[in-house]
Amino acid sequence: MRNVTEANLTEVVIGAMAAAKDARLKEVLTSLVSHLHAFIREVNLTETEWLAGIQFLTTVGQKCDDKRQEFILLSDTLGATTMKDIINNRKPPGVTEYTILGPFHRASAPELPRLGNLAGDMAGEPVIVRGRVLGPDGSPIPNAALDVWQSDAKGFYDLQMPDLDGMALRGIFHTDAEGHYVFRTIKPSFYPIPDDGPVGKLLRALGRHPYRPAHIHFILSAPGYQSVTTELFAEGDPYLESDAVFGVRGSLVVAFVRHESGGEAARFNVPTPFYTVDYDFVLEPA
Ligand code: BEZ
Ligand code: FE
Repeated sequence: MRNVTEANLTEVVIGAMAAAKDARLKEVLTSLVSHLHAFIREVNLTETEWLAGIQFLTTVGQKCDDKRQEFILLSDTLGATTMKDIINNRKPPGVTEYTILGPFHRASAPELPRLGNLAGDMAGEPVIVRGRVLGPDGSPIPNAALDVWQSDAKGFYDLQMPDLDGMALRGIFHTDAEGHYVFRTIKPSFYPIPDDGPVGKLLRALGRHPYRPAHIHFILSAPGYQSVTTELFAEGDPYLESDAVFGVRGSLVVAFVRHESGGEAARFNVPTPFYTVDYDFVLEPA
């Protein structure tokens, strides 16, 4: 190992891991070292750039605490999270696609009844979200759980509301015997991902914006079926084509249909105007 050169360094470093007991760790680190060395050579990384990279990663780490995970945000904005999600959630055609979980999910959201209001007394345009949860053959899945969370009409999650005590805009619904679900909420807004840290600074340096298109998050689960984490995106949103974290899938874009009729509104006990979203989720058997 005395004569380390540009030509043999990658092989030498990989060789230094020969005694690793964990085969998967060895496989992952071997590939990481190969790609890292190839990257350094490809861009001709300078001393200044290497140091800037180290300083950047240091500030990313320093921004992390029990509420803020800047490394995940970095992974999200570089598409690494979505690449990991795609390769780990390959689904047959017709099955509801997986998309990014994000940092705003909370365990133990309240259980809400059929037609329950996810938004409580939050201001916003009323929306009825309804549909079925089905198996791939179209058979209804009774008692499937829909864990739902979203931003308010201005793009803030409850965790970002300093004056709020407890939870808001989140709840768990269940399908009925025919696989139907229905709940009331308010129209969510597009919003910026947290951009007051080093990741936001990087986005600006890259000429990128921090916005996600308006969406509602879901985790669907039912006994005998694979759970899926997903989102429904609002058709017509200005950020559908440029989601900061690359979470949009065509199959998850839905119309928020506007209704002015008082008769229709009375059926759901909502004021006019209101919107309906119709979407059937399809789960894969476990
Ligand atoms: C979200 O949709 O809640 C989200 C996803 C990734 C990063 C930030 C927010
Ligand atoms: Fe979100």
